[in-house]
Amino acid sequence: MYRNIVFDLDGTLTDSGRGILASVTYALEKLGAPVPAPETLRLFVGPPLTGSFMKYCCMTEAQAAEGVRLFRERYVPIGWRENRVYPGIRPLMRELKNRGCRLYVATGKSRESALRVLEYFGLMSYLDGVAAPDPKEMHAEKAKLILSVCPDTADTVMVGDTMGDVEAAETAGADSVAVLYGYGAWTEAQLEKATFRADTVAALSMILLGEVPAEKGVFLSLEGLDGCGKTTQRDRVKEIMEDLGYETLLSREPGGCSISEEIRSLLLSVAHGEMTPTTEALLYAASRAQHVHDVIAPALRAGKAVICDRFVDSSVAYQGGGRSLGVETVSQYNEAGVHGCMPDVTVYFRIDHETSLRRRYSASAPDRMEQADAAFFARTERAFEQLAAENPNRFLVLDGRRTKEEVTAELQEKLPAFLTEKGLI
Ligand SMILES: Nc1ncnc2c1ncn2[C@@H]1O[C@H](COP(=O)(O)OP(=O)(O)OP(=O)(O)O)[C@@H](O)[C@H]1O
Ligand SMILES: [Mg+2]
Repeated sequence: MYRNIVFDLDGTLTDSGRGILASVTYALEKLGAPVPAPETLRLFVGPPLTGSFMKYCCMTEAQAAEGVRLFRERYVPIGWRENRVYPGIRPLMRELKNRGCRLYVATGKSRESALRVLEYFGLMSYLDGVAAPDPKEMHAEKAKLILSVCPDTADTVMVGDTMGDVEAAETAGADSVAVLYGYGAWTEAQLEKATFRADTVAALSMILLGEVPAEKGVFLSLEGLDGCGKTTQRDRVKEIMEDLGYETLLSREPGGCSISEEIRSLLLSVAHGEMTPTTEALLYAASRAQHVHDVIAPALRAGKAVICDRFVDSSVAYQGGGRSLGVETVSQYNEAGVHGCMPDVTVYFRIDHETSLRRRYSASAPDRMEQADAAFFARTERAFEQLAAENPNRFLVLDGRRTKEEVTAELQEKLPAFLTEKGLI
């Protein structure tokens, strides 16, 4: 096993193509320049942009500088986040770290951009150093960057997706792994120069670790009053988890598997108006028990991020609060149901019951029935608030009253940070 491992960033740890290519395209369109074919465009990921604009778009140095300025106009606010940790990278880095290796990043990206990506995507905690050019010297040689964080290159390997990485390793006196899943266009002769080649992250894991480490699952539930935006934001949560490198599984409650879906239709049937609150609460707990057993627990064991639209907190809030069975009582009913399988994170879209009512009944004034509804929802709201206050380590509270776009932005800003802070990813 190597003691020091230096990773390239773009195309090696993260698949940054989406944001980089969209921002290059944006710059070229603003300049009125033709956009190269996709095979050429993908070569922009990784090497310094000025050179690529000159090489692939026949620009002068001044035009290329303007291209870089326009690129940043889109990349800085939006493009850097259109990035994805390659699945398998996170458990690999975690396991290498556990075994005492020292991990570094050496990238041609500016230090500021590199740190922003590494922090947002929660990779910083695995790293012992980041080598990136300072703003004054944008074309720092990669070999120098390697040596700046890892001066003793005995027992060191550089992992990268372009020939530049392999050459830098050689100059710095380190071994190299050429990864073929990134953006480099390798010739057989170039690949010969690398100590190893890895077609996939699994192959890279075999080289560095001798095994493919398992990912640890993350369980996220989405909660809040009716109309708070759970279903609207669900796919955004899924995208964020996929960008963090996870395989995802979306589910919902009540339901999620065949027995639980049957219980769901029992619960929702208008023919069962005489159902007591206790029966209702126990049926929800029974539905949950099967859902955990059949769907949630196996997916978590397989290392997935499970995203569940409503879970135990909905029972506690609606039956415990809304139906006045008591928060404690309904929590107890659910202990057997969840079987210790509690969410790691509960994203709570906070809205008040009046906003919930307005979203559900559009603009019309609530009638007598809806007024009765209002009291039920006020109790439910209070129970949700109690749960959020009592479980600050699990609840990520977002302001659900803002526009859909604002809620998405808050989610993007806060969810990865919450997961990192709590040591969940
Ligand atoms: N931030 C928002 N601002 C305004 N309207 C919203 C917002 N988020 C969702 N909506 C609208 O409110 C309604 C309910 O949204 P959604 O279905 O996502 O809520 P939900 O939490 O899943 O509700 P339920 O608990 O009933 O399933 C939809 O019409 C949706 O378009
Ligand atoms: Mg919904």
